[in-house]
Parts: sequence; C-alpha cells; structure tokens
Amino acid sequence: MINIVLCGGNGTRLWPLSRTLYPKQFNKLISNQSLFQMTVSRNRLICDQTLVVSNEAQYFLALDHLEEIGVTANTFILEPTGRNTAPAIALACLAVHKDELVLVTPSDHTIQNIVEYTKSIELAKELAELNYLVTFGIVPKYPETGYGYIEANGANVISFKEKPTLLLAEQYVNSPNYFWNSGMFLFKAGTFLEELERCAPEIYESSVKAFNNAKVKNEVIRINHENMMGIPSDSIDYAVMEKSKAVKMISSTFEWSDLGSFEALYNELPKDVDQCSIVDNHIGIDSHRNLIIGEDRLIATIDVDDLVIVDTVDALLISKHGSSQKVKAVVEQLKTQN
Ligand code: GDD
Ligand code: MG
Repeated sequence: MINIVLCGGNGTRLWPLSRTLYPKQFNKLISNQSLFQMTVSRNRLICDQTLVVSNEAQYFLALDHLEEIGVTANTFILEPTGRNTAPAIALACLAVHKDELVLVTPSDHTIQNIVEYTKSIELAKELAELNYLVTFGIVPKYPETGYGYIEANGANVISFKEKPTLLLAEQYVNSPNYFWNSGMFLFKAGTFLEELERCAPEIYESSVKAFNNAKVKNEVIRINHENMMGIPSDSIDYAVMEKSKAVKMISSTFEWSDLGSFEALYNELPKDVDQCSIVDNHIGIDSHRNLIIGEDRLIATIDVDDLVIVDTVDALLISKHGSSQKVKAVVEQLKTQN
C-alpha cells in the first residue's frame, strides 16, 4: 500500500504561526517532530511507499524534514500552485498502478493510539479491495464547522456534508449517525479515478492532461503551471465524496485532531497551574486559560483570561479564545493589501 501525503495546504487558520512558505504541517509545536514528519513516520509502519504531493515552493522544506527523520520519499509530485485536494489526489493516483491500494492522509493532524489506527486501516483495506472509497469517521465531540460530516448507518454512508453551518453541525453532533470526516481515505487508485471521472469529469480530464505533460526526473514529477491552472480547484469532499455512491465509512476510535484552530492547539498542548498553554518565555500574573506562543521575546500578561496570543518576528495576534476561526479573515485582508 502507498501512503499519499497531502502537503500543499497553507493552514491559514493558524496564522501567524502558519505561513504560505512555512505552513502548519511543518510546525514542531506538539512534539520535536513536525506534523508532516509525524504523518510520514506513522504511515511508514503501515505502507511500503510514501508519495508526497506538495507545492513546488515547499519542496526543499519537505525534503529537509524527511532527511531529519531518515526517510526518503519514493515519489514527489510538485504542484506549481495548489488546486485543492481533488486534483492533488488525482495526480497521485495517476502516478501509481490502478490496482494499488492508497492511503491518502493530510499532513497536519495528530493521531494517538497507533494500535486502534492500524486496526481501522486493516478494516478499510478489506472494503477498498471491493472497490469502495473508504473514509474514516470520528465520533464528533463538538459542533465544529470546519470539518466535513459523514452520515452513516454502520459502514454504509448515507450522505456526506462538507463544512456545515453551526446550526446543522449542532444537529449532527446530537445524532448518533453523524461522524467527523477525518480527511483520510483508503481506496484503489483506479477506483478513485473512475469515481472522479464520473463525479467531476473536468477535474479528471484536466488532471490526466497535466500528468501526461509533467516533467519527470528521479522520481520527482513536476506539473507545469499552465496545465495546473487548467484544473478546476476543488476538494475531494465536494468533488467526489458528496456525490459518489461508492463511499463506505469505518467508525474509528483513535484519538484524532486536525489542529485546525488555536482552540484545537490549546487542547493538545500541556497546561500550567493556571490552565495556560505556554510555548516559550512567559510571566503571567493572575492570567488564566490563555494560549501563549512566542519566539525569543518575553511575554508578560496581567489579569487576562481566555486569550490567544501568538507573537512572531513580524506579526502579533491577540484573539479571544473561541474567535480564532476569524483568523482566516485577517489572512484574506492581508492578501488584498499585498
Ligand atoms: N498537495 C496539495 N495541494 N495538498 C493540499 C492542497 C493542494 O492544493 N490543499 C490542501 N492540501 C492538503 C493540506 O495540507 C492538508 O494536509 C490536507 O490537504 C487537507 O486540506 P485542508 O485544507 O487542511 O482541508 P480541511 O481541513 O479544510 O478539510 C478537510 O479535512 C477535514 C479534517 O481535517 C476535509 O476533508 C474535511 O471534510 C475534514 O473534516
Ligand atoms: Mg485541515
């Protein structure tokens, strides 16, 4: 089985920690390994090969991170620009034999309990051999609007709801039939391509064209800019999962987090006596439940609770705990200024 590692996203919800040239998956906040390194290491235990789909601009960063953990990726696909996950997965599936099982994983998650994880993968493999697109559902803990939800009856997927409104997410969390979509998938490369052709023929055809025109050298496949821009930008969730009839779900029990927000990051990090999560130098006087991340400078807080403070060399973020999904709006404004 081949692990397709998706590594071309920007992780804008963790700005200013996550930047276009240094996105979240390369951060080492949670452990001494980056999320990307943890993903590759975890899946090397299960898969025989690693295929990384990344942005051209992050290639050397990805290579450095692989070298640090003593791993060589078997194949790299380099995109000149991101067109979201459906094209990235399509290009990767085109690079392998159609009967090959592929485990598609984002590179920006934490997963605990590798034994449970491996069990879920084994179950998924059986369904993938029967030509299903297999997803991994996680019992939802709160009404997250940044995730997709899978409505399922056992392994049978009834519907797939990507990024619902808060109102709908609240309904889903209270129903036993709804699961978080973990964003990982297992299928035969050929099954995915067939379903993509059926559900999103334009993405399929333009991806085939881009792949056939790619420059290949030493297991590095470089897609050219014009061809990449010719692929409609869409996620696997909207383009295929919401439409396909061939989707199955494994209800999974491993601990999983997308670290998609500062709140999620706060939950993952250790806390001090004031329930503050602190990375680096901080003095807190009567300050509670704050997430404080700095670089070299000392950060002092007095009488403040439930804040997110992220200090970097060129940008400082101060947000209320619970509001950090709005960080995306800051990034949008920044884009219009630059
Ligand atoms: N190569 C490549 N190219 N990778 C990409 C691109 C791209 O254009 N866009 C995103 N990625 C990578 C990201 O780096 C990440 O590892 C993964 O694909 C998923 O993309 P995100 O942008 O993080 O997606 P999301 O978190 O909004 O939503 C997805 O994941 C959720 C769980 O984390 C969906 O699958 C949701 O349904 C799911 O709940
Ligand atoms: Mg994500």
